[in-house]
Amino acid sequence: MRAGIRVLFHFGETKPEPWLAGLRAALPQADVQLWQPGAPSADYAVVWAPPQQLLDEQTRLRAFFNMGAGVDALLALRLPAGVPVVRLDDAGMSVQMAEFVCHAVIRHFRELDACEQAARQVRWTFRKPRERADFPVGVMGLGVLGRRVAAALQAFEFPVNGWSREPKKLEGIQMFAGAAQMPAFLAASRVLVNLLPLTVETRDILNRNTLSQLQAGGYLINVARGAHLVEADLLALIDEGHLAGAALDVFREEPLPPGHPFWTHPAITVTPHMSARTLRNDSIAQISGKILALERGEPVAGMVDPARGY
Ligand code: NAP
Ligand code: GLV
Repeated sequence: MRAGIRVLFHFGETKPEPWLAGLRAALPQADVQLWQPGAPSADYAVVWAPPQQLLDEQTRLRAFFNMGAGVDALLALRLPAGVPVVRLDDAGMSVQMAEFVCHAVIRHFRELDACEQAARQVRWTFRKPRERADFPVGVMGLGVLGRRVAAALQAFEFPVNGWSREPKKLEGIQMFAGAAQMPAFLAASRVLVNLLPLTVETRDILNRNTLSQLQAGGYLINVARGAHLVEADLLALIDEGHLAGAALDVFREEPLPPGHPFWTHPAITVTPHMSARTLRNDSIAQISGKILALERGEPVAGMVDPARGY
């Protein structure tokens, strides 16, 4: 690696010191600094939801590294033309997402909420076993995270459907692709897991029209972005009885404001955007490896296509 490479780091409210120490240890030849307004020009920027000022000032970057899998916050800014954006490509997220989604599906399927409620009332209850075949799970987005989630659900023998933009074949999964096959995908699914990126095509995609096409007693697990979901439509479909409930990890406004109906709805489980966290060691290893690869002139995985939005 050539000497004098400069790397800037900006990760919102996160305490930067351990990240800076990790990046410096992984890239001993580089000058790694926390971004400050007016910072000298750098070669690489490692960022999460940076201020527009960083993008406007850093005109000589060779690449942005996005500290998450989703790039919607970064692409919403005015990006300097021609600077590649590289997203986190798994980096320890897919196993977290698989455990989170399987937990949510199993919790719903095995009626564990009702068991816990009965236990708190010191009641020993009997519930009829339910058929796994009656709970086909549809996974929207069969990318890095969706594929791992689908495989984990298959291991628990749930029937799994998948929906992606381009047609693809995945062993044991009934695949659907594109807008034309969305109705068939929804009609074949009772539990819906959203793992789409947030793009112009997917904003508000979970709405009255789409969610009402799920099988009766449907259940939504949204682990992608809050802006995929029209919140009032979900509440109406649960209250009308078409949907049984939802597990929501992401929200249009985060943190979810006090007083929001999701907090107290008996059929909705709220978690604070934690289904797959950015892990420090895995992320530093991936990003530093990619900086070294780019310096050698090699291609790297996880390049974002700004026109597609993911
Ligand atoms: P990815 O590898 O880019 O996969 C995206 C998938 O979505 C691909 O299968 C793609 O289809 C499909 N897709 C995109 N636009 C579509 C459309 N219009 N119609 C149908 N399918 C479409 O992304 P990933 O790494 O799996 O991450 C997915 C998302 O999860 C991220 O964008 C992020 O928002 C979210 N996320 C949330 C958390 C959390 O903690 N809650 C953590 C990490 C990530 P093709 O395969 O045909 O291209
Ligand atoms: C988290 O939401 C991510 O996109 O990595």
